[in-house]
Amino acid sequence: MESARIEEVISDFLTLRRAGANLTALCPFHHEKTPSFSVSPIRNTFKCFGCGKGGNAAKFLMEHEGYSFPEALRWLAKKYNIEIQETKPTPEQLAAHQEEESLFIVNDFTLKFFQSKLPGAGLNYLKNRGFAEATIQKFGLGFAPDSWDALTKAATQAGFKLEQLQKLSLTTSSGKDFFRNRVIFPIHNLNGKPIAFAGRILSSANGGPLPKYLNSPESTIYHKSQTLYGIHFAKRAIRHQDECILVEGYTDLIALHQAGIENVVASAGTALTTEQLLLIRRFTPNLHILYDGDLAGISAALRGLDLALELDLNVKVTPLPHPDDPDSFLRRLGIAAFTEYLATHAKDFITFKASILLADTDNDPVKKATAVHSIVDSIARVADPIKRSFFIKECASFTGLSEAILTAETNKAVLALPLPKATFLGVRDKPGVNSPLEPVPTGREVGGVESHLVFFLLEHGAEIAHASENITVAEHILAHIEDVLEHFEDPRCQRICRESIELVLAKKPVNAGHFIAHEDLDLSSFVSSLMHKEDAPIAPNLEQASFNTKTDGGPSCTEDINKTILRLRLKTISQLCEQNLQRIKDTPPDDEQALAMLLKVHEKLNTARRELAESLGLVRF
Ligand code: UTP
Ligand code: MN
Repeated sequence: MESARIEEVISDFLTLRRAGANLTALCPFHHEKTPSFSVSPIRNTFKCFGCGKGGNAAKFLMEHEGYSFPEALRWLAKKYNIEIQETKPTPEQLAAHQEEESLFIVNDFTLKFFQSKLPGAGLNYLKNRGFAEATIQKFGLGFAPDSWDALTKAATQAGFKLEQLQKLSLTTSSGKDFFRNRVIFPIHNLNGKPIAFAGRILSSANGGPLPKYLNSPESTIYHKSQTLYGIHFAKRAIRHQDECILVEGYTDLIALHQAGIENVVASAGTALTTEQLLLIRRFTPNLHILYDGDLAGISAALRGLDLALELDLNVKVTPLPHPDDPDSFLRRLGIAAFTEYLATHAKDFITFKASILLADTDNDPVKKATAVHSIVDSIARVADPIKRSFFIKECASFTGLSEAILTAETNKAVLALPLPKATFLGVRDKPGVNSPLEPVPTGREVGGVESHLVFFLLEHGAEIAHASENITVAEHILAHIEDVLEHFEDPRCQRICRESIELVLAKKPVNAGHFIAHEDLDLSSFVSSLMHKEDAPIAPNLEQASFNTKTDGGPSCTEDINKTILRLRLKTISQLCEQNLQRIKDTPPDDEQALAMLLKVHEKLNTARRELAESLGLVRF
């Protein structure tokens, strides 16, 4: 990082102008007309005063090129001729790496082979579809000849092993070419290396005996769920426009590119995956889904929607009039009208979902309710509570339901979301699976909030808390702490609560006497000193408590009890927050999936913490 000169790195991408000790440029991360992007050679950092992005050279590469931290370091090392000693690869790793590299070379050869076969039927087809020479060249389009083994022969003659061709499924197990008589669309990874191919039949007719498109099966270098067609060609434009357009088809993407809309990726006809959305989110949080307006297209869009919301993407959807797809629609309208259409017909996800789901309810209340539940379920996936409340407002205006009801329903849905308990409450369920163990218990002093609560439990446990419901104080307390019991720091308090639960279940009274007479002497002496401690919790209130008991349907220290419960929960949540933050720190920055999960947990814990603190009156808004 010391060798990496920030101004040298950035000037590989931007035109820098001198401004005193610093250099400036138009910020690549947001739209601007006057430069607020500043580079300081002295501090060796960059900073944009418009959008706030800043950092060192590695950070710039991560932001600008979408690299992970290790990738950025490799890029810098290459630029400055520094050899990086990565963790010494094992012979297996080395072999795997060499294997991967060699597969890329096979794909390179294949791509060129298909390109060389394009003139003739393939080229005619593409030209008929309106693709220009430059476009064809840019996307590396080619043609697989109508032959059983043209590629396999050419590749083996060029010295490639049959085994490698088969690993990429370019050659079938019986030695035949996988792609025959098809126009070829190479599929590149983020760095522009060909990892797979798709082949389209020449006839425009659908529904023949052959599938319209054939895609390479997965291989060690091609994982469908992690791949987005066109991401390599689109990444700069996506960042620049701060929006990613998502289409379904290869030809849709290419047509849009050719018309100058370059911030496009294609899902290539499969359901969107978390990995794909995270890939997009490396470049922008704004996703614009452009789908065919038929049922299949709409349901594909709906499926992608919830996932995108969960990953905190801002989603817009523009359904196109059936039976058009982006390619045909663009050809019909021309670029100006097409762009205009996108600008005027894009719907935010609520509007989109509401318009689809509420449309065919025929005013049937049951169908309507189902639709609203589905919309609310989507809103619940939005992590940002402020965004959520805006969506609730919008949903209210669509459905005519009150915001209060929708908020309550959304909150229910948030709680019901399958954020697994194992993740929410830590590591208990799966000890040892790459997560740190719980900290060793500390802070056992008798005055802690846990013993505070145990005091109430044993002192007032047998009294009635809610006269109307005939619930004892012990039941009230235990019901409210059962879920945090496993996180108690003091094992004695934990044990007392656990045994108290058993007492309650056995319909026996919970009181100090039971534990003072306990066979476990440690427990017995703990309880007797707890109950007789001079500064026993809120001693002054206790006097009152014994006077006023039950005049208002419960001990007058009910409020103190409830506060103690909240305090205990707050303490637990705070601990979990800390543990989760530590886990975030311990997660390698390129493990985006794990990070996304942990950040979501963080958000939830934080919200819970704030709500608890609020109800305790510790913070005010
Ligand atoms: P479409 O049927 O919408 O085709 O499938 P398209 O992209 O408009 O193709 P053209 O315009 O007829 O050439 C959308 C995407 O679904 C995948 C492809 O990725 C295609 O681009 N698909 C479709 C397949 O993988 N296999 C198929 O048989 C059909
Ligand atoms: Mn099409």
